[in-house]
Amino acid sequence: MHLGRTTLSKFLIEQLRDAPGQSALAALLVDVAAATKAISAMVGRGALGPGIASPLGGAELRNSAGDVQKPLDVLTNEAIVSHCEWGGLLAGMVSEEMEAPYAIPAQYQRGEYLLVFDPLDGSSNIDVNVSVGTIFSVLRHDGKAAPTTADFLQPGTKQVAAGYAIYGPATMLVLTVGHGTHGFTLDREVGNFIMTHPDLRVPEETSEFAINVSNERFWEPPVARYVTECKAGKTGVRGRDFNMRWIASMVADVHRILMRGGVFMYPRDSKDPSKPGRLRLLYEANPMSLLIEQAGGAASTGRAPILDVAPAELHQRVPVILGSKAEVERIVRYHHEYDRGEDKPYISPLFNERSLYRPEARA
Ligand code: F6P
Repeated sequence: MHLGRTTLSKFLIEQLRDAPGQSALAALLVDVAAATKAISAMVGRGALGPGIASPLGGAELRNSAGDVQKPLDVLTNEAIVSHCEWGGLLAGMVSEEMEAPYAIPAQYQRGEYLLVFDPLDGSSNIDVNVSVGTIFSVLRHDGKAAPTTADFLQPGTKQVAAGYAIYGPATMLVLTVGHGTHGFTLDREVGNFIMTHPDLRVPEETSEFAINVSNERFWEPPVARYVTECKAGKTGVRGRDFNMRWIASMVADVHRILMRGGVFMYPRDSKDPSKPGRLRLLYEANPMSLLIEQAGGAASTGRAPILDVAPAELHQRVPVILGSKAEVERIVRYHHEYDRGEDKPYISPLFNERSLYRPEARA
């Protein structure tokens, strides 16, 4: 029992009661939290539940963007829709798993918020029992009419709330309503989220970076420069050793950064020139950027703050560099120096003409 401890509902009531008209936001976030509890139970059943396809089972499903869709992607999407559509709080929803905006059915009242979400981020990890999560963002809808696609295309600065649930050894909900980033742990016996991590702060500096190094040959020079310097450790310009982590589950990687600092990068690369990055702006990059900024960190595409990017499409991708402020600022500086042709002193083994990998350089 947690007598006297702050539950999620109590926190939301206290945070939002003085803001006019925001009790609806508190109620919406309680519905989202209820959906994440249901998802936590589903994910926690592992191979005993219905969500993990048998490796011998039928044809592969794909969502509108061509990503492989697992049964759990569909079930978790339904869990969020069914928990949040009926309350009269939402005007519409957009999800990674639905190509078009979801209109609130006519039998329910229409509210003044829009919910965008990735119901099961990192689901490619689900069969190997690695932490996965749900990411969500809440926007305002001021019109009386059913929202159109254009109504969802708001920059991240317009988010009124953002958060994620992480389904790991413990299930946690981490959220912001614009006054700091706070973490709650699910007490599974009682079914309540209890505040365990008030006012999270990302340490300014770090010695840990997260990036999928298998993409190294596709990176832009400023990213290669940063990672090369980190790997050089004590012997290089950074003068200290760095550690690397890559869980390939954004929620788990960002959670680690919120807990102990670090920098997470899924930068622009040349792997598929039609895609400016891998991660989705509306329901991955924006909510994570707001959480990180509210915790004192920074989030950038490398050239502009992520929260300032004006979305052009619902499922738009964006380069993501976020985490400890001083490190993100350094990487942004490297991008600017590169764009201005000012990074000459840097000699990249991958990109410089006199590369160490070239036979003439070894002679
Ligand atoms: O968006 C999906 C996602 O699984 C993220 O959670 C994760 O950070 C990234 O993709 C992993 O990508 P990759 O498999 O290329 O390392």
